[in-house]
Amino acid sequence: RIAPPCGLVIFGITGDLARTKLLPAIYDLANRGLLNPAFALTGFARRDWSGGDFEDFVRASIERHARTGFNERTWRQLADGLRFVPGSFDDQDGYRKLAETVADLDRTRGTGGNHAFYLSIPPAWFPVVCQHLADTGLNSVRSDHEWRRIIIEKPFGHDLASAQDLSEAVSRVFDERDVFRIDHYLGKETVQNILAMRFANTMFEPLWNANYVDHVQISMSEEIGIGTRAGYYDGIGAARDVIQNHLLQLLALTAMEEPVRFTPEALRVEKEKVLSAVRLPGDLDASTARGQYAAGWQGGAKVRGFLEEDSIPAESHTETFAALKLFVDTRRWAGVPFYLRTGKRLGKRVTEIAVVFRRAAHVPFENSEMGETGQNVLVVRVQPDEGMTIRFGAKVPGTEMQVRDVTMDFGYGHAFTEDSPEAYERLILDALVGSAPLFPHQREVELSWRILDPVLAHWAASGAPEQYRPGSWGPASAHEMLALDGRSWRIP
Ligand code: BG6
Repeated sequence: RIAPPCGLVIFGITGDLARTKLLPAIYDLANRGLLNPAFALTGFARRDWSGGDFEDFVRASIERHARTGFNERTWRQLADGLRFVPGSFDDQDGYRKLAETVADLDRTRGTGGNHAFYLSIPPAWFPVVCQHLADTGLNSVRSDHEWRRIIIEKPFGHDLASAQDLSEAVSRVFDERDVFRIDHYLGKETVQNILAMRFANTMFEPLWNANYVDHVQISMSEEIGIGTRAGYYDGIGAARDVIQNHLLQLLALTAMEEPVRFTPEALRVEKEKVLSAVRLPGDLDASTARGQYAAGWQGGAKVRGFLEEDSIPAESHTETFAALKLFVDTRRWAGVPFYLRTGKRLGKRVTEIAVVFRRAAHVPFENSEMGETGQNVLVVRVQPDEGMTIRFGAKVPGTEMQVRDVTMDFGYGHAFTEDSPEAYERLILDALVGSAPLFPHQREVELSWRILDPVLAHWAASGAPEQYRPGSWGPASAHEMLALDGRSWRIP
């Protein structure tokens, strides 16, 4: 699969995401030969830049962040297709210049009337940008062979109502099939592997249900704090930032039924079924937890607490840790709790899905030392050490019949020699090719907000989040939440 001749316009090109992820991913795609030579990249920003300044900016980002080595030929090819349009998001003049640039690229570069607009900007601007794109005709094609697409980055709203408003503004200008919503977790190899593991094998699926599964833990922990992202993060918090999108998508892939095909429609039907079957327990105090990282030490360095971070108001109630318990009310999952958690400044950067199986009804050996729980566990390690682990009991060597927990590992790095593309490479390529299975549909976005809204409302009425120590595994209430169920969080 190679992207057809086309142009990509990035709004928010000077932002962190563009600099550290998008530009390097585009270069890596070019370096792997996955972009057509006619590909063109246009930056749109409120900067007084010449074409040369823009080229320097793009080159610096690639040299710093690209995964494939710097190749002069690839760079020249890409650099010839670079354009910069100065303008602010609400200034019609900028869009007129953009329309001229796009028309010129079709004539001189051969982009063939195919253009995607990537909005890597705060969502409050989506309606404004979309309206201007429409007013300058940038959303419309001259023939059936051409396309215009919009690629948007989360957060898709801050609750259900705002997500619906946002979607309405976008869909006034672009057809749903031309809207590509990025959830970069879906671009990760290991996330796609959940489907391969479940549906390309026979040995997992028969056990993948309430008869055998005790509970599921989906964790995404980070060591970093909010860094320089106060403007984005304050008022958003861990649940909106990560659970609404990444973790609920992981839950959907883990819990869904087999799709009839690997097509966007078939996948969506199954993901939507799961998301619409999700139920929160009645007592949100006992089944949710949130926290804010306090000041302290982490990895040998002194770190500031969330409330002392630059531009965070001292009275902010924004959570940097969030955990919740959910049920999926289907026959397959009846009564099986799914525990989700995410947080910044935790013990380790790990994303994993742990499927914890029920204990054997009877174990005929005495002296078993089957670990803390003595339960089989299948862990899908999404990152950083991508792979899978299965935990099971084995005989301890010796003259006694003793059993102890051991693990069996599959590591991507060992099993494959192929280099795995970065999530953004995969997703940008898919958007340019027009392949949609890895992009969430608006209905999924809305179902996810429907799940989260009551939790957010409950927290908003519950005062300040609990503080937790940097480098720990979150606030005490998160541990109590599982202890109430006679369980404990895994320490990855
Ligand atoms: C983003 C969140 O979606 O994912 C960030 O906005 C978070 O807060 C990031 O740090 C983590 O992504 P990854 O790929 O490093 O796990």
